[in-house]
Amino acid sequence: MKKNIIKILFSEKEIKKKVKNFSQISFPSNFIFKENEVIYVCLNQISDLNKLQKNFFLFQIGIKLQNFCRKGTYIIKYFGDKSLNEVNFCLGWEVGKYSFDKYKTTERNNNVATLISPFKGQIKKEKEVFFFVRDLINTPANFLGPNKIYEMGRVFLKKSFSSKKISGSELKKKFPLIHAVGKAASKEKMPILCELKSKNTKSKKKIVIIGKGVTFDTGGLNLKTGSGMALMKKDMGGAANCIGLANLIQTSKIDVNITLLLPLVENSVSRDSFRPSDIFKSRDGRFVEIGDTDAEGRLILADAISYACESKPDMIIDMATLTGASRVALGIEVPSFFCNNDQLSMELIEASQETGDPIWQLPLWENYLDQLNSNHADVKNIGNSIFGGAITAALFLKEFVKNQIPWVHVDLMAWSKPNKFSSYEGGEAMGIRALKKLIEKKFA
Ligand code: BES
Ligand code: MG
Ligand code: ZN
Repeated sequence: MKKNIIKILFSEKEIKKKVKNFSQISFPSNFIFKENEVIYVCLNQISDLNKLQKNFFLFQIGIKLQNFCRKGTYIIKYFGDKSLNEVNFCLGWEVGKYSFDKYKTTERNNNVATLISPFKGQIKKEKEVFFFVRDLINTPANFLGPNKIYEMGRVFLKKSFSSKKISGSELKKKFPLIHAVGKAASKEKMPILCELKSKNTKSKKKIVIIGKGVTFDTGGLNLKTGSGMALMKKDMGGAANCIGLANLIQTSKIDVNITLLLPLVENSVSRDSFRPSDIFKSRDGRFVEIGDTDAEGRLILADAISYACESKPDMIIDMATLTGASRVALGIEVPSFFCNNDQLSMELIEASQETGDPIWQLPLWENYLDQLNSNHADVKNIGNSIFGGAITAALFLKEFVKNQIPWVHVDLMAWSKPNKFSSYEGGEAMGIRALKKLIEKKFA
């Protein structure tokens, strides 16, 4: 079998040595070009970037390379900075093969190039997680209600997790906010809280991972506009990513007890919809006034966080497509995170840099907490200012975190748009490689 060579070069010196006609090439756009059957990837253009961005680009370039090569078998010769996360090329390469064509009846082009990778096992696992997360987010809400996510999650986590779900009158009594948000949906899309717990572990360390699972966000009675609603099948992207994260941990050597909590609802419009100005007693006893039915994610997370705290875990992580404001601040590729523990924040930042999986800290700025004051209840679910919406959402969640349990809240887009490396548009795994690394640092 013929193996084609891909040479990855970092410095101009190396490039001049390896590429014969260096002086004649006008510098390759998107870093990649071919000369005499060898593919060159010239990364001198990113040599000034920091570690996070370099590692991020390695992943993007992996996607682009697969697309550039199309067919055949390849090996990589890496002439570069060994402190970088080389695996990212190979992972990008595999992820670049993804397409969502379950609902396309026309045939598609199956040309795929093979990369002989030294990181085979790791790549295979991570690729599976990427594909699962993307598939789940891309599946539209007419095929994917709360129960379906629960089933898909259970199957994906196989036998190493025990599972239970709470619904109906029990949900209404024990998780009133989750019930309030989801009660307008049709019968087969009724709200549930699903709880998956890792089995077969001797570890005493416990992490609770909570994912926002709004299978569709119409905004409720505070109805979104057409364009605001267009992407809202992805509002369960937090839940999808959390299932992915649980899988990454389960298939690694990290021995830790995982509880996965997924509040799964459709934020729908019907005569049973919750209303602006309604007041609900939350699980922890505090009364919450609804300022806006479109701020539903923080409501379902609040009850799940209260429940998580009752078991006194060592750490709580939640992931949610929570605010447009976080996207305004950081764009779609960089999830924001909030954390009540400075040491943990630093470790997550490091984990992000090492993996090249971007995530950026925003402050839990307590002085904005007053914006959530309610006239008639203990707290309101929206702030009274147009500024700092990602922060006030995070502060709302923080109100439900007890005893300073170390807590990380991730506000993510869970969706990719085409860029110069990839033409893919759709659901996306974000932040989970960084979070897995964090958990490895703390608990392995
Ligand atoms: N799911 C949305 C947030 C969202 C919108 C994430 C677009 C990513 C892209 C969330 O439920 C929402 O509607 N948030 C509102 C909150 C507002 C009513 C306080 C928002 O961000 O506009
Ligand atoms: Mg909403
Ligand atoms: Zn939402």
